[in-house]
Amino acid sequence: MTRFVYPGSFDPPTLGHLDLIRRASGMADEVVIGVLQNAAKAPLFGEQERVALLRELVEAEGLKNVRVVAFAGLLVEFARQEKATAILRGIRGAADVEFELQLAQMNRALAPEVETLLLPASPQYSHISSQLTKQAARGGGEIKAFVPKAVRAKVLRRLREQS
Ligand code: PNS
Repeated sequence: MTRFVYPGSFDPPTLGHLDLIRRASGMADEVVIGVLQNAAKAPLFGEQERVALLRELVEAEGLKNVRVVAFAGLLVEFARQEKATAILRGIRGAADVEFELQLAQMNRALAPEVETLLLPASPQYSHISSQLTKQAARGGGEIKAFVPKAVRAKVLRRLREQS
């Protein structure tokens, strides 16, 4: 039984995240998306909102072997708890490779039995980040090329509520 954990802040989930989830779902028996609690100091969405958003996306995609849960604390402990075959992370470019390598090696030092798999982002999504999507939306930019439709609506509503 192959089980990947796919951790992240997902504030908000982007088209790039969804692409990775779709591809991972075809490679593993089960994918567990781990939504980091307290990801940012002032996240746009609370952890339960991010979990709900991701569940909605996974269901809309019909991905039956994907679960979404929140986690706190160390990623390797979450991976152990879930009996994961590997931690899955996406890489978009050189900066990600540097950071992800460091993260993977820190995690390996903490838990040598927990493997990390790095999956290159699809090129059409390799410029997208949650952080820049929020910046674009705050500045009044169109974000439909960055996030799923349902997420776009919720981001816009949240920003309206905040203003
Ligand atoms: O979507 P992100 O913000 O790039 O995800 C980062 C994440 C969740 C993978 C990372 O911050 C993380 O693993 N946090 C939990 C604490 C931890 O285990 N850190 C790495 C070992 S020092």
